[in-house]
Amino acid sequence: MNIPIARTNLLDSEINSVLDPLKSGWLVQGPKVKEFEDKWCAFTGAQHSIAVTSCTSGLHLSLAASGFGPGDEAIVPAFTWISTANVVEHLGGKVVFCDIDSKTFNIDIAQIESKITERTKAILPVHLFGLAADMDPILTLAEKHNLFVVEDAACGFGSKYKDEHVGTLGDTGCFSFHPRKAITTGEGGMVTTNDSNLADKIRRLRDHGAAMTDLQRHLGARPYLLADHPDAGYNQRMTDLQAAIGSAQMDRAEGIVSERQGLAKKYDDAFANLDWLKTPFRGDDFEHGYQSYPCLFMPKDISLESVKKINAQRNQWMDDLQKKGISTRPATHAVHMLSFYREKYQLSPEDFPNAYAADQCSISLPLFHGMEQSEQDFVIEKMLEFKS
Ligand SMILES: Cc1ncc(COP(=O)(O)O)c(C=O)c1O
Repeated sequence: MNIPIARTNLLDSEINSVLDPLKSGWLVQGPKVKEFEDKWCAFTGAQHSIAVTSCTSGLHLSLAASGFGPGDEAIVPAFTWISTANVVEHLGGKVVFCDIDSKTFNIDIAQIESKITERTKAILPVHLFGLAADMDPILTLAEKHNLFVVEDAACGFGSKYKDEHVGTLGDTGCFSFHPRKAITTGEGGMVTTNDSNLADKIRRLRDHGAAMTDLQRHLGARPYLLADHPDAGYNQRMTDLQAAIGSAQMDRAEGIVSERQGLAKKYDDAFANLDWLKTPFRGDDFEHGYQSYPCLFMPKDISLESVKKINAQRNQWMDDLQKKGISTRPATHAVHMLSFYREKYQLSPEDFPNAYAADQCSISLPLFHGMEQSEQDFVIEKMLEFKS
């Protein structure tokens, strides 16, 4: 067997959906983008959805639309994909890292307030791997300190917090359609918001600052006149080719989420009694979407002194699994340990010990819709052979 960490699963009808825009000649942001956005609103309950070139673009546009700029500070969890922090840098801001809670891999609520200064303008909670961050206390702090909240919901397809889909709780939410995510358009992203002024601003910034989209112009009374540009925007538009594939996958959105949840449940049951592996957190208020299945290796033994040793053991185990045909990955990286941030902000791993430990001791197992039962049985069988 050769089991990847994730495998793209597209039906023939989804693959063929790309023919429509190719034949119609409407290749850039047009009717398929609008269709995808409408389906996204229906699925998440967001009032506005704005398709963009990636989640990173969505994070960037969200912060830019809020007026975030040079000298402003934004709070970012130290364990996330690097782009959650990068967008702050791109706008000339300062990244202020916050450690995570090892139980959930998400931002540690208890530490956020101590990071707030008079320059703090934004917070970017991340719903890592499909588990929602604990949004109520974050929103309370945001209100108290007048912070703009951008939910990094890159992995948040089908993830809920107290029955609300993630991405609908903060000022904006940003999703990713990279191939390791539950639905994919190659590259691609979606911004959600319930604020219509913010939606208008993000739509303009996505499209060179234009007051009107090409689709609106073509459908309007005078398609031959160009739009005004009230902002100096960017080009972060999704193409209709990508949107066609995304829109087609939305027709089985519920099925994709429940299949992934079923796979996770089977892993949870199989590994429930292992003391060397902590499976992903489950909680009543948190419906996990399982973008991936991140576990902690040797959870009870982890301390600053033991991390290096456990990391070596974990890497050996990942190597053994790879030889057996099973791909695994560290769940994600501790951003404060990456050279750019380590050097710019003079940080050491111990500054955010939980993020450091998660970086060194986490292990994600293969999980993707379309995974065969025999493939999952094989992963379980080999995992249970581990001897410490
Ligand atoms: C938490 C998180 N944020 C942001 C991103 C960036 O997404 P994209 O590749 O669509 O820009 C990712 C992608 O892996 C992610 O996991």
